[in-house]
Amino acid sequence: MKNRNILTAFAITAPLLAIALAGCVTGTKSKSPSTLKKAYKDHFYVGVAINRTIATSTSVRADNVNRNIDQINQDIAVVREQFNQISPENDLKWQLIHPRDGADGYNFGPADAYVNFGLSNKMYIVGHTLVWHGQTPSWVFQGTNMPPGIANPPPTVAADTTGTNAPGARRGRGPGGGFGGGMGRGGMTGPRASREELLQRMHDHIATVVGRYKGKIKVWDVVNEALADGGTNILRTSPWEQIIGPDFIAKAFEYAHEEDPKAILRYNDYSLENPAKRHKLITLIKSLQAQGVPVMAIGSQTHVSVTSPSFAEEDKVLTELETLGLPIHITEFDVNGAQGGQRSNSGDVAANAATTQGGLVSDADKKLADAYAGLFRAFMKHDKSVKVVTLWGVNDGVSWRAQGRPLLFDANDQPKPAFDAVIRVATGDQTK
Ligand code: GLA
Repeated sequence: MKNRNILTAFAITAPLLAIALAGCVTGTKSKSPSTLKKAYKDHFYVGVAINRTIATSTSVRADNVNRNIDQINQDIAVVREQFNQISPENDLKWQLIHPRDGADGYNFGPADAYVNFGLSNKMYIVGHTLVWHGQTPSWVFQGTNMPPGIANPPPTVAADTTGTNAPGARRGRGPGGGFGGGMGRGGMTGPRASREELLQRMHDHIATVVGRYKGKIKVWDVVNEALADGGTNILRTSPWEQIIGPDFIAKAFEYAHEEDPKAILRYNDYSLENPAKRHKLITLIKSLQAQGVPVMAIGSQTHVSVTSPSFAEEDKVLTELETLGLPIHITEFDVNGAQGGQRSNSGDVAANAATTQGGLVSDADKKLADAYAGLFRAFMKHDKSVKVVTLWGVNDGVSWRAQGRPLLFDANDQPKPAFDAVIRVATGDQTK
């Protein structure tokens, strides 16, 4: 009788315990028995880009994401519970880690906090990014020989919100990243750097930053977004390309490899879903491979939208990228719930949801879940080459495309239907 009571008590408490454990950190009542990192552990890392508030557990102005300390703690809990890899949303970009010229021009504090967060949580740590046209201060491209009369040029970096999700900084597109303002003068007041000068700066930056985190940061985005979007040119016009020439890419990889021969060195770009851009990528990488440049992985940002790519389209993207024979990392994954292309920041999600009031799952949630499921099915199909899948942000509240509600957790850190759909892809349970 006594045993029966114990068994009865167990029968009642066990399911409660299981529910409590399933939602232990997020505080959710998710029915899902698993987490992203567990669900995909035999396939690839599932990672997340973290901002400075998460890395430092403080509500810092620099990240401009407007989270109070309770929300930040909740964000941290989700990161720890769900992910086994991290990428820094901003703090390792040149403008943040190396804002000024000279020996004391580095600001390592936030980057150190990021790396320490990864180490203390036993995560696979990515460094992003060493050489990019965006979020790079103008002094990098400025010559040291000022023309007569300009002895003391004014500071050239736009007010450094060190950050940040401020629109200019977080989009990181086009000329806004420090060399903009018309025909490539940016905030420069004097002559451009020479090729030798810029190569020297690139070398010092890479040696210092890669050297500092050697053995801790396992993967580096060495060059970000060097490809041209339209036209027939392979490379975009950027100060790197204009001043050094097209071999700036090879040099950056060589410098990084010299400093940390064990690090996986990635070339990272966006819109590889677009066949023309993808073919440019393939041409570029084949040429680097032919020259013996140590490019070791392809980073496909994969900032996509609910309208495309489909499973079949992503399957084709990955099949073609695989011809390069390198691991593929999905580096900045998010799925904009708004219609429109990858650049679109506006959302029509509210409108979508309004049309389905009273339904069990809003149309917008269902579309997002279907899109995520299709893309994760493609990643799984190619899991011999896809080694890392990184979500670009932990939840919709901190996303650079917040209006498009593009992530797996909502702004309150609750899992969305898309989260359950992604777990079901891993467990093979497509029936629900
Ligand atoms: C690019 C960069 C990222 C980030 C996004 C926008 O994709 O690689 O670091 O700045 O733009 O958030």
